[in-house]
Amino acid sequence: MKFLLDSDIDEIVERIDSKNELQGKTILMTGARGFLGRYFVHVIKKVNSNFERPVKFIGIDNQITSGVLGSDISEDSNITLIEHDIIKNLKIKEDIDYVIHAAGIASPHYYREFPLETLDVAINGTRHMLELSKEKNAKFTFFSSSEVYGDPNPENIPTPEEYRGNVSTLGPRSCYDEGKRVGETLCHIYQENFGVSTNIIRPFNFYGPGMQEKDYRVLPNFGSRIKSQLPLKIYGRGNQTRTFCYITDAITGLFKVVIDGHDGEVYNIGNPNPEISMIELAEMIKEILGTSVEYEIIDYPDSYPSDEPNRRCPSIKKAIEHINYNPSVILEEGLKRFFQWTNENYEGKQ
Ligand SMILES: NC(=O)c1ccc[n+]([C@@H]2O[C@H](COP(=O)([O-])OP(=O)(O)OC[C@H]3O[C@@H](n4cnc5c(N)ncnc54)[C@H](O)[C@@H]3O)[C@@H](O)[C@H]2O)c1
Repeated sequence: MKFLLDSDIDEIVERIDSKNELQGKTILMTGARGFLGRYFVHVIKKVNSNFERPVKFIGIDNQITSGVLGSDISEDSNITLIEHDIIKNLKIKEDIDYVIHAAGIASPHYYREFPLETLDVAINGTRHMLELSKEKNAKFTFFSSSEVYGDPNPENIPTPEEYRGNVSTLGPRSCYDEGKRVGETLCHIYQENFGVSTNIIRPFNFYGPGMQEKDYRVLPNFGSRIKSQLPLKIYGRGNQTRTFCYITDAITGLFKVVIDGHDGEVYNIGNPNPEISMIELAEMIKEILGTSVEYEIIDYPDSYPSDEPNRRCPSIKKAIEHINYNPSVILEEGLKRFFQWTNENYEGKQ
């Protein structure tokens, strides 16, 4: 299986303006076998082919949700992959310049299955990685989530970083949302009290080739149903909205924060346009792929945590101003690239 598009990696590398800053540096990344981690590995391999002093990359993952594609990525002389559960302490001999903490249980399907692991990786895992950053004097980046905003009131949409959130401590999603919130608080404490330079990223629904069929987030679910020529399943009422950020825009933004993010800042990374309901999304897919695509609106399955936010849309003003972030792949184009890839790579069983 080809897990991504080489042209997407070229596009990402081209768009990371300050990639030369990484020459000769060592990056430690948790969650390196996950959807986003695998892109980091490929981008590092690509930049290393042009660097005199290569980037050393140490990837950590316990493979709890990394699936088939996660076990497929390969090491080379500059890429080392370590199997480790970061809920436990981690000792590393090498000097480290950047710690990127992306390990997490990101798909609602999986955080319903593993609620304690979800909370643990966001809290104890983050604490261990902050300790490591402190010991190594490394810049720290935490992959939090737009879910820290919970279900924002309409006047806070598009949602700016200052919005404090409307989140339940007791709902079926709380293990994820509250875990990420505590993870952010830990970043703040290590920044203020222990001199660790931290950035927090709040991703808003990234998608693209490399999302596994068993990821169970909305677009892989749709990809699987399209492959088997079955109607798309929309949960709830279908009027819940999201924004979707194609993977090249996402990974470019993530690298820009890692390299250029201002000390102690938190950044929304996503594509605010369009904010689209699930029914409108299905209609758009129908139009892009042809009339054979149908959809049906069904109740939430037991495997999916209900209480999902009604609307989700980022304000990306700060990322534009601080790091020149500029998402540019329109939704129609990203969906075309994604479903072409799912049609070639999914089995279509869901
Ligand atoms: N992709 C998105 O749209 C999105 C949106 C919001 C937040 N995020 C956050 O970004 C990060 C990466 O997302 P992703 O889409 O690549 O998710 P993913 O599930 O594909 O990858 C996460 C990886 O972390 C690993 N992991 C989980 N617990 C671990 C532990 N205790 N020790 C070591 N490894 C562990 C998993 O095995 C997996 O490979 C996550 O923290 C997620 O919460 C992503």
